[in-house]
Amino acid sequence: MNKTILNIKNLKKFFFHQNEKVEVLKNLNFSIKKGDLIALTGPSGSGKSTLLHLIALMEKPSSGKIFFLEKNTNDINENEINKIRKFNISLIFQNNNLISDLNVIENVMLPLLIRQENYKKSYEKSKKILSLVNLSKRLKFYPSDLSGGEQQRVAIARSLIAETDLILADEPTGNLDYQTSKEIFNYFIKLKKMKKTILFATHNRELANKADYKLSISNGNIKRINGKK
Ligand SMILES: Nc1ncnc2c1ncn2[C@@H]1O[C@H](COP(=O)(O)OP(=O)(O)OP(=O)(O)O)[C@@H](O)[C@H]1O
Ligand SMILES: [Mg+2]
Repeated sequence: MNKTILNIKNLKKFFFHQNEKVEVLKNLNFSIKKGDLIALTGPSGSGKSTLLHLIALMEKPSSGKIFFLEKNTNDINENEINKIRKFNISLIFQNNNLISDLNVIENVMLPLLIRQENYKKSYEKSKKILSLVNLSKRLKFYPSDLSGGEQQRVAIARSLIAETDLILADEPTGNLDYQTSKEIFNYFIKLKKMKKTILFATHNRELANKADYKLSISNGNIKRINGKK
């Protein structure tokens, strides 16, 4: 049986907006196994991005616990969090978050350079992964000279290159055409075969149905909807 990579216990997240409490995630309990490919669904504003940011350890829960590989992430210090974010978890943001002063290939290489991997090898690996997302002709372009979909593909390449255990993707195919979306999804399947775990938020019903199962958020609660397995 596959190991549990993520275990969520009584997770709550609320915000205060103009003195009013906005309860986004009410009391989530679920776990994810290594090698699962999961679609995170739910209406706009239901809390998908919020949940991904919590799992990526970019934000703290209001209460509750997130266990990553059996480690309670509430109990670990900033150093350990940075280490996990460098080596174990990557997030493809809904709004790309590319660095505007770096060109395409530099943006993609970044996670490897931060880990102090060899420059030349990182460059070659970036080139390869950029050809996979059909961007070989844009290596030296800056983000501002790319279309929205191209920027998104750079962000996907940057996240995939790190080959972390857990890949979180926030509407990774939101700006992409049908064919490119399918190619990205096929790459997710390839990563799954490498025992990577992928949790992707999406409004695309067809892609969501291709996942192993869906986690659907509504009214602050999460529900598992079994798919093809
Ligand atoms: N910092 C914040 N302060 C107050 N409210 C917030 C904050 N961040 C998010 N919210 C609220 O939390 C709710 C969930 O937002 P979130 O971005 O997680 O939704 P989503 O499911 O990702 O939506 P979409 O499909 O549109 O991307 C929204 O109603 C939003 O207004
Ligand atoms: Mg969102």
